Amino acid sequence: MNHLRDNTSFVLCGDIAFSESKNKIVTYRKGYLVCVDGICKGAFNELPEEYRSLPLYDYGTRLIIPGMTDLHVHAPQYTFRGIGMDCELLDWLKNYAFQEEFKYYDMQYASKAYSFFTYDLKRCFSTRAVIFATLHTEATIELMTQLEKTGLITYVGKVNMDRNSDNLQEADASASLKATRQWLESIDGKFKNTKPILTPRFIPSCSNDLMRGIGQLSKETGLRIQSHLSENPSEVEWVKELVPESTCYANAYEIFDTMGTPDCPTIMAHCVYSDEREMKILKNHGAYIAHCADSNMNLISGIAPIKKFLDAGINIGLGTDVAAGSSMNMLKTILITHQASKMYYRLVDNNVKPLTFEEIFYLATAGGGRYFGKVGTFKPGYDFDAVIMDDSIMHTMRDISVRERIERMCYNDADDIINEKFVKGKKVYSSIKA
Ligand code: GUN
Ligand code: FE
Repeated sequence: MNHLRDNTSFVLCGDIAFSESKNKIVTYRKGYLVCVDGICKGAFNELPEEYRSLPLYDYGTRLIIPGMTDLHVHAPQYTFRGIGMDCELLDWLKNYAFQEEFKYYDMQYASKAYSFFTYDLKRCFSTRAVIFATLHTEATIELMTQLEKTGLITYVGKVNMDRNSDNLQEADASASLKATRQWLESIDGKFKNTKPILTPRFIPSCSNDLMRGIGQLSKETGLRIQSHLSENPSEVEWVKELVPESTCYANAYEIFDTMGTPDCPTIMAHCVYSDEREMKILKNHGAYIAHCADSNMNLISGIAPIKKFLDAGINIGLGTDVAAGSSMNMLKTILITHQASKMYYRLVDNNVKPLTFEEIFYLATAGGGRYFGKVGTFKPGYDFDAVIMDDSIMHTMRDISVRERIERMCYNDADDIINEKFVKGKKVYSSIKA
């Protein structure tokens, strides 16, 4: 059972949980989960006749859940996570993030640091991730090369930035766009699971010409865009000064044609200060909000009203936002998302009910997974992304349900319980000894 195999048609047996909708987690005790050619055929209490000839792997009472999607994470910031946590956003960027990212011109440094990131990403709950690199082309290609070897499916962006960033910036818009085209040419056809995404850092780091150029490049190539939106009060004020003709921060992205379309959706991280006007813009463009609750606590940014966004039908997933978020463990992200939404209700607006655990589990799996297509649940037709866990080390005196075990696992934010990970039916990680 432990060796990594190429066969992507099989049956797993174990205690299964997944989101059927944002309001419902379905569970199976000693259920069967069928994968044919990397695609899920469904979960069953009794194994249907037609699948009985497939190899069956019995995981006993281990938990089997869909792989999670980290919709927003900065790979080059991974190795300084947990440091500089007394700052707000703009000081933290200047004094910590930009200082660190500057070092990625040095390929020896980049290669080593990215090996720590990819090693840990492979072993966490995420099977999919959308990643910021740095502005350095060579180091970004190195990150993509390392990620491709993990078997995970990711988007990676060479960052664009040409202003307000001290020594971490490209000469001007045309230099930044030229470097981006060169990056795209160098990786063309090179990777199967590691896709490029256009990554203007945020409006304060990108001139109007650069933003416009990214918008055009997205139109021309069909490539998606990721960026940051309405994270911190000083940042929001700054954007008003930088783009005075905009009606709000989201409108500034709209002006530059970088908010995307439902077929080519942009990811906007944070949206802590997105009001009704911004919500309308996000929804009209089919954009995804990457909700980063841990980061928003750490940088004293605030709490995004995710329940409002969810009820309005805006696309949402969860992001760890390392290193403003201090961990790539999506269980910790789930826990903090839940706690933050409870405090939003209690302290900010008691018309906005706390998110339910069901809703947050959905966001971590199917909500973010949707960005990648049919991903994040075990309904028939979805990519077979799964994580197998042994939660027996969390002792209990009760006969708890599978649903309770999932909730408890998130509230314990354990990360040493992962046994195996599958991506599109391919086993990419196993810690089970022979
Ligand atoms: N806004 C622009 N860049 C960053 C970053 O690296 N992290 C966070 N949290 N916000 C940003
Ligand atoms: Fe970020």
